[in-house]
Amino acid sequence: MAEHPASPPAAPYRDVNGVAIEPARALPEAPPPGDKPVPARDDRNWMLSPAQQQRLESAIVSHLLPALTALLEGPERDVAAVASAAVADFFPLYRERPIRNNKGGGLIDDSLCLYLVARLLAPATIIESGTYQGHSAWLLRRACPEAEIVTFDVDPGQLRHREPDVDYRAGDWSEARLPASDPARTLVWFDDHVSHARRLLEARTRGFRHALFDDNFEAYSLYATGGAPVPTLAMTIDRGLADGEEIAWMRHGKTYRYRVDGKACAAAREAIDVYAALPDLSPITRYSPSSGMTYVRIAP
Ligand SMILES: C[S@@+](CC[C@H](N)C(=O)[O-])C[C@H]1O[C@@H](n2cnc3c(N)ncnc32)[C@H](O)[C@@H]1O
Repeated sequence: MAEHPASPPAAPYRDVNGVAIEPARALPEAPPPGDKPVPARDDRNWMLSPAQQQRLESAIVSHLLPALTALLEGPERDVAAVASAAVADFFPLYRERPIRNNKGGGLIDDSLCLYLVARLLAPATIIESGTYQGHSAWLLRRACPEAEIVTFDVDPGQLRHREPDVDYRAGDWSEARLPASDPARTLVWFDDHVSHARRLLEARTRGFRHALFDDNFEAYSLYATGGAPVPTLAMTIDRGLADGEEIAWMRHGKTYRYRVDGKACAAAREAIDVYAALPDLSPITRYSPSSGMTYVRIAP
């Protein structure tokens, strides 16, 4: 297995509106010298016995099934069949991923959830906010080979793997003209640590119906993620939060504060038609805890 396969010929990096940006700001073709990929923990811990691997996959599907069924509004049996096939495809695929160490982005359990949701929804267009090193865009391309994929990041210099037919944009999606797409067949995926309430309303204003969010933590566990996207989706539906209440937390020794904005929470709450939080997979897989991926069907 190649440790760091060269990226395919560069599609130009573009600004938010798709205009190619000058070469001086283009991304490196290869990792900078000294950027040796460190083998992730996920690469050293696998089930090798096929029968036990199959049991692991069944346990994963059973664990996720209620959320996946809510997300698709489909009969449980059909969802289970598609999910089982996707989970079986995922493990060998993940072992071939181009970015070996995606610390700071999605690890194995989150990647599995993202891949599953994308396979189940089978969108024609995917818009990602939070490209980071390019791992999730690579995975989405594998989940949905035919989809048009546009990915945004305000810090494009972090990109390490570029897919030939993914549209990489530098900047915030809210400033962008997007390709024409069928909102009912578009998935918007937010993994950018920007307020969930804000992102949800932006997606609704653009007419989108399917949104997936990462880092959806409750108000009482905001210390679990860097740059908590407050108010998170969970906070918008949390009746235990008072308007104006100050929440303070510490992460890696640094203090953060957020004052609950009741109006913003109510506006976001009204935009939620279906809310399906994917449960943490780590009690099943024993990999690192997942980071709260949550699907929202947006109210029209
Ligand atoms: C957690 S990482 C994304 C991980 C990536 N999706 C993956 O799993 O491979 C968050 C990324 O969001 C980016 N980001 C921060 N603010 C943003 C914004 N306003 N718009 C788009 N991206 C943003 C950061 O630069 C960072 O690369």
